[in-house]
Amino acid sequence: MVTAWQVPLDPTKDKTLTDPKLAEPIKWGYRIFIDTPHEAPRLTGGKVSCINCHLNAGQRERSLALVGIAGMFPEFNNRAQRLISLPDRIVDCFLRSENATGRGTDELPTTGSKEVLAVNAYLAWLSRGYAMGANPGWRNKNAIAPDKLTPVAKLDARKGEGLYAERCASCHGADGQGVQIGDKKAGPLWGPDSWNDGAGAARVYTLAGIIRYAMPYLSPGSLTDEEAQDIAAFINAKPRPAYPFKARDYPGAKVPADAVYYRAETAPQ
Ligand code: HEC
Ligand code: HEC
Repeated sequence: MVTAWQVPLDPTKDKTLTDPKLAEPIKWGYRIFIDTPHEAPRLTGGKVSCINCHLNAGQRERSLALVGIAGMFPEFNNRAQRLISLPDRIVDCFLRSENATGRGTDELPTTGSKEVLAVNAYLAWLSRGYAMGANPGWRNKNAIAPDKLTPVAKLDARKGEGLYAERCASCHGADGQGVQIGDKKAGPLWGPDSWNDGAGAARVYTLAGIIRYAMPYLSPGSLTDEEAQDIAAFINAKPRPAYPFKARDYPGAKVPADAVYYRAETAPQ
C-alpha cells in the first residue's frame, strides 16, 4: 500500500515557501530531523537522529509517521499526566530519545529553544492541509495488538539475543553500536550514544512495536509479534544513559509494566 507521501516531501524543494522568516526554520527543522547530532549539538547527547526512528523524515507508514499529526495537539499525555503541545512533545524527544541530559552541561531544551521551534515548523509544514483534530489513519500504528502482548516477565531475552544476531547484527553490529550502510547509519541500540532510559523506545512494548513494523530495514513486517517482543526485551535489558528526571514521570499514575528501567525508581511493594 503506497500513500502519496511515501515520496519524501522535501521542504527545500517547496516553491511555495517564499517568506524566508518561515522557510528557513522549516528547512533547518528538516535538517535537524535527519542529522540531529550535527545540526542540534546543543541539545543532543547521543548519536541517534530523529529519522533513525521516524523513517523517511517522519514520512513512512508504520515507521512512526508524523505526517498530519500537528492538528492532534494539545493532547493528554499519560507520562506527564497533563495536556501537552506539539513543542512539549518535541522537547521530550530531545530530552529522552536524543538524550539531551547526557551532554554534561545544564542546557536543556525548552519549548522556546530555536531548534525545537525549527522542528516544530517542519512538523507543522508536514501537516499542511490536514484538518485540526482529525486523527490520521497511520498514526499510532507501531503498536502490537494488546491481546498479542506477552507479560514482560515471560519474554525470552535469550531468544531475542539469538534473533538479534541473525536478523539485526549485520547492520546494527554485534556490539549494537550501528554500522554505516551507504548514506544511512543504523543507530546505536544501547550504550552511551543511544536513547536514554526515559525514552519511549526504552519501553519494551513500544520498542517491540517499532521493530515489528519498521525493521529489519529491508524486510519490515517479517518478524512475528513474539519475536519482536523478545528482541525488544533483549535490547532494553542493556545499559543506556539514565534520564535524571524519571521520578517526575507518571505523577500519581501507575508506571506501565513495560517501562522496565523505572523499576529501580518505583518503591517495591
Ligand atoms: C529512539 C527512537 C526515537 C527517536 C530517536 C525519536 N523519536 Fe519521536 N517518537 C518515538 C516513539 C517510540 C514515539 C511514540 C510515542 C511514545 O510512546 O513515546 C515517538 C513520538 C514522537 C512524536 C509524537 C507523534 C504523535 O503522533 O503523537 C513526535 C512529534 C516525535 N516523536 C518527534 C521526534 C523528534 C522531533 C525527534 C528528534 C528530535 C524524535 N522524535 C526522535 C521514538 C523516537
Ligand atoms: C539492512 C540493515 C538493517 C537491518 C538488518 C536492521 N536495521 Fe535497524 N536500522 C537500519 C537503519 C539504516 C536505521 C536508521 C534508519 C534511518 O536513519 O533512516 C535503523 C534504525 C533502527 C532503529 C531506530 C533506532 C536507531 O538507533 O537507529 C531500531 C530500534 C532498529 N533499527 C532496530 C533493529 C532491529 C531490532 C533489527 C533486527 C530485527 C534491525 N534494526 C535490523 C538498518 C537495519
